[in-house]
Amino acid sequence: MQEITFNLNGEEVTVEVEPKDTLLRVLREKLFLTGTKMGCEESECGACTVILDSRPVNSCTVPAAKVHGKTVVTIEGISKNGELDPLQEAFIEAGAVQCGFCTPGVILSAKAILDRCENPDEEQIRDELSGHLCRCTGYLQFYDAIRIAVKKLQEQKTEK
Ligand code: FES
Ligand code: FES
Repeated sequence: MQEITFNLNGEEVTVEVEPKDTLLRVLREKLFLTGTKMGCEESECGACTVILDSRPVNSCTVPAAKVHGKTVVTIEGISKNGELDPLQEAFIEAGAVQCGFCTPGVILSAKAILDRCENPDEEQIRDELSGHLCRCTGYLQFYDAIRIAVKKLQEQKTEK
């Protein structure tokens, strides 16, 4: 067992992990944040995506011990003061959520894109979301949702 400390959704957490533990397992089974979904556990589906030091990663293949001292954002961490993140609202508006299994991961990848680039083009979005499998939506709604979110974020900026 090894103790690790990292910033999770804005708060410092300390947890004991074993060498075999992945970040995904620690989030779900030790910290009880089940918004991060467990799919293939082989870095194939994107369901387990979280943001690690500003980059989206498949948490199923990140050794938990490597997260010591880093910053992790999960889907539970993006709403603020009880308000959904503009991306979450946009996914609802665009009908980009059906069974919802892929949704947390897709939203976090989209968030990582928008945190880096205010107005990404179609190719960038497709490229960044290429690691996500969705059995329900047909993907086009994801692109619509991201366009809606870009607009919402621009409006928020001009209101400030
Ligand atoms: S569960 Fe991690 S990529 Fe599928
Ligand atoms: S909404 Fe069902 S897998 Fe994507």
